[in-house]
Amino acid sequence: MNYVIVYWSRYGNGKKVVDYLAGKLNEKKGEVKIFKTDEADPTAMPEADLYVFSAPTEAFNVQKNMRKFMKKLEGMEENKYGIINTHSMERNCLHKMEALLAKKKMVKVTGVDFKVGKDANAGNGLVEGWEAKVDEFVEKL
Ligand SMILES: Cc1cc2nc3c(=O)[nH]c(=O)nc-3n(C[C@H](O)[C@H](O)[C@H](O)COP(=O)(O)O)c2cc1C
Repeated sequence: MNYVIVYWSRYGNGKKVVDYLAGKLNEKKGEVKIFKTDEADPTAMPEADLYVFSAPTEAFNVQKNMRKFMKKLEGMEENKYGIINTHSMERNCLHKMEALLAKKKMVKVTGVDFKVGKDANAGNGLVEGWEAKVDEFVEKL
C-alpha cells in the first residue's frame, strides 16, 4: 500500500504521531510519503492508496493551514483517508476535518484524536499510551 501523510504541527506533538505512524506503516511494508502542508500541492496530490491528514485544533477549529489545504484539494474524489487531530480541550475537531473532506467527496476510513496535556508547548504533551492508539489506528487503515 502507498500512503501519503499531510500534517501540520505547531509544537511537534502531531509530528511525533505522524512519524510514529509512518514507522508502523513501513513495518507493514507500506510505502509512505510525509509532507507538511506547505510541502505538498493540494491541487496535484501524489497518487496514494490512502491519505492521512493530521492537524491540531486551534481557535475551536481545524488549524488554519490545514483548513486552507483541505479546501484547496482537487481531484481527490473517491480517495480514501484517515484523520488525526490533536487538541487540548475536551472536544476534538475530527468532525470538522471530515466535513471539509466530504466536500471533496473523499471517503473516510477512520479517525483518531489525541488530547495533549502538560508540556504540549514543548512537544511533550501526548498522554501516556498514545502509541497504542496509533497502533489501533494503523489496524483500521
Ligand atoms: C493559538 C492556539 C489556539 C488553540 N486553540 C485550541 C482550541 O480551541 N481547542 C483545543 O482543544 N486546543 C487548542 N489549542 C491547543 C492545540 O490543539 C495544541 O497546542 C496542539 O494540539 C498541539 O499539537 P502540535 O504540537 O502538533 O501543534 C490551541 C493552541 C494554540 C497555539
